[in-house]
Amino acid sequence: MTEELVSTGISPLDSLIGGGLSPKTITQFYGEPAGGKSTAAIACAVAALKAGGEVIYIDTEGFSTERFRQIAGNYTDILAARLMIYEPFTFAEQEADVAECARILKQNPDVRLIVVDSFTGLYRAEGGPAGEPQRRLSRQMILLLGYAKRYKIPVVVTNQVFMDVETRTLRGLGGTVLSHLSKVIVRFEKKGPTRRAVLEKHRSRPEGLSFSFLLTEDGMREV
Ligand SMILES: Nc1ncnc2c1ncn2[C@@H]1O[C@H](COP(=O)(O)OP(=O)(O)O)[C@@H](O)[C@H]1O
Ligand SMILES: [Mg+2]
Repeated sequence: MTEELVSTGISPLDSLIGGGLSPKTITQFYGEPAGGKSTAAIACAVAALKAGGEVIYIDTEGFSTERFRQIAGNYTDILAARLMIYEPFTFAEQEADVAECARILKQNPDVRLIVVDSFTGLYRAEGGPAGEPQRRLSRQMILLLGYAKRYKIPVVVTNQVFMDVETRTLRGLGGTVLSHLSKVIVRFEKKGPTRRAVLEKHRSRPEGLSFSFLLTEDGMREV
């Protein structure tokens, strides 16, 4: 019994996570700004599009058509035709877009991947009674996981960090639900120009595996 893995488009990243993105699960990329999360997210989308699928891409920071063009290269126009981009400006709009995926998936059997980048950018800015934004975020994770399972596709979410003052480390936002429901978690670190992708959680691979890379015109390159 083998599950067909979906390439991230970045071979060292595929290797790090055991061959590619697992269908029926949520994979999380988290880390500090400019660490390479969006580059990796776009690379995943480009790879799924190149494999012939459609992709739902929810981008809360404004989708960078330029970066997509750099990574997609000559195939940009053909691939862009099968990329469904949503750009919510508020957390409520993000919730609506995540809910809307149910209808899109029903109507588009060729969707191979859902990306939400950044899953926590708007959440971070959301006020409200204690615990409420957290519950709303959790509900979205549960919906996304439901789509992943029902349609047997991978979901990629990116997540931002905060400084945990007690442990003095950068930690992912979104609390325990976000980390529990992400079956694979990769942390992107930034030290000068060199980045490092570290496997933080996986069901069948040791945590702490990593590779170093540079961000390049066409995505990322292992160093
Ligand atoms: N064409 C390019 N060549 C080299 N580096 C690039 C290119 N485009 C963007 N970058 C670098 O990528 C970084 C942003 O990466 P990104 O994947 O958006 O990070 P994140 O989503 O984690 O904030 C910036 O440091 C930027 O300089
Ligand atoms: Mg980003």
